[in-house]
Amino acid sequence: MVYPEIEKRKTFAIISHPDAGKTTLTEKFLLFGGAINTAGAVKRNKANQSNTSDFMEIEKQRGISVATSVMGFEYKDKRINILDTPGHKDFAEDTYRTLSAVDSVILVVDSVKGVEEQTQKLMGVCRMRNTPVIIFINKMDREGKDTFDLLDEIEKQLNISLCPLSWPIGQGYTFKGVYNIYEKQLNLFNPDKNKITEPVVKVQDLDDEQLNQYLKPKELSTLKDDLELIDGVYGELDKEMYLEGLLAPVFFGSAINNFGIRELLDTFVNIAPSPKSREAETREVLATEKPFTGFVFKIHANLDPNHRDRIAFLRICSGKFERNKFYFHTRLQKKLKFSNPMDFMANEKSLVEEAWPGDVVGLYDSGNFKIGDTLTEGEQLQFKGIPSFSPEIFKEVENRDPLKSKQLEKGIQQLTEEGVAQLFVQQPGNRKIIGTVGELQFEVISFRLEHEYGAKAAFRLLTFKRSSWITATDKKKLGEILQRRQHQIATDKEGNPVFLADNDFMINLAKRDFPDVEFHSTSEFK
Ligand code: G4P
Repeated sequence: MVYPEIEKRKTFAIISHPDAGKTTLTEKFLLFGGAINTAGAVKRNKANQSNTSDFMEIEKQRGISVATSVMGFEYKDKRINILDTPGHKDFAEDTYRTLSAVDSVILVVDSVKGVEEQTQKLMGVCRMRNTPVIIFINKMDREGKDTFDLLDEIEKQLNISLCPLSWPIGQGYTFKGVYNIYEKQLNLFNPDKNKITEPVVKVQDLDDEQLNQYLKPKELSTLKDDLELIDGVYGELDKEMYLEGLLAPVFFGSAINNFGIRELLDTFVNIAPSPKSREAETREVLATEKPFTGFVFKIHANLDPNHRDRIAFLRICSGKFERNKFYFHTRLQKKLKFSNPMDFMANEKSLVEEAWPGDVVGLYDSGNFKIGDTLTEGEQLQFKGIPSFSPEIFKEVENRDPLKSKQLEKGIQQLTEEGVAQLFVQQPGNRKIIGTVGELQFEVISFRLEHEYGAKAAFRLLTFKRSSWITATDKKKLGEILQRRQHQIATDKEGNPVFLADNDFMINLAKRDFPDVEFHSTSEFK
């Protein structure tokens, strides 16, 4: 049976290492989709990424960016939902969680810089879930790496097979455009930031006379040689392999110049998956099931002390979500109804009456939600797939105002439930350790503890830099490591034991000393 509302939806994220062009590409998609009509609308909301340590500035921009957390628009009869991900590396955990709510991704790679640190980490997260990936190689207007070398680097470093669907002719000053292998057409590059379409020449094949009008003989012969090579090396697009996350179609272009965007968007609409099924702890939930289900993947706090509401972002997994209907919060075991669920179309918010699998709605929340919470029509269900990853910085919380210890406790609890950082508790003494990916979170936490909870905390840096979640089939063996390595053991928010270490070497040593204990790099494992 066909479910038109579900088939229509394409929910995805654009991801990249900072500065590769994610914001520009997002904006161009919105322009093409008619969701915005001026360039700059998204750009203004972009958090200043790698070079700022001014968290207030970032938080201010995060505040603005709530409107762009989900950007929906209609294109070719499809409803496209782009989930925005923070660019700043200190908020990488936010990005990882957002990736749990998408059905596919477009990965932007800078043609000059190639694969960068964040590209690799983000791709690793996609691989965990077999998320289908399309790669867009951006900035072809610059002198970049040799195309074959670059594809080789991507394939090796990201551990994914590639299938170029277009091929560049020259690069930088000599960039002429791309040949669209799929459509057999030449898309001519004409650097223009204001036009949104490029001149296209449709050809029969590479011997078509028309090509001589646009390409020099040398360019044409190189193109022919390249395409012959590609044919031998990469072959045709295997859509099944793409859908399984094993093969990535590749496009080339220049986002800032609106070049290569339409063909990317058209192919995306054509091949990207609609919502399918999601794994819950007890069973798999199909998008086509009638009863509504969904989970919270992100919580956005309002920094304004006069408006303490938070917005919980809910990804709908099955059924139809309706405003003012009671839904079952499976962790709290209580029914809740939402009178003001929000929908986001580019930079406008509007009230949602109903929403479908693949959609994301923003729910005003006064503290009922934490990341990963599941809503259903009554079934006891818990969606999986939002694991915690190992933080890189660990600091012990020290209370600086003994009269406010309750407030501190509550603040730490709520902020970590919101996903700002991870909380670990170590015994004896109930010591609280906060783990984050970047320093910025500590500034955020200090500021918010003081302004929202009236508590004062200091953070003492610990030597730990890794956490591993530990399990053992034999409970006695688990007990041994818990006892013998007590100084390195803590529990996570669910009360599960975690082994803390200064580096991978120490984890490997522990693995050798406790061969019956399993060490997991994330909090969720099969
Ligand atoms: P990000 O979200 O991935 O961090 O990247 P963003 O889109 O902000 O782009 C980073 C920089 O790269 C921007 O320059 C942007 O204009 C530029 N850029 C994006 N696409 C292209 C392209 O196709 N070719 C070239 N040459 N540059 C591109 P900026 O100087 O940081 O910002 P701005 O002053 O241009 O806004």
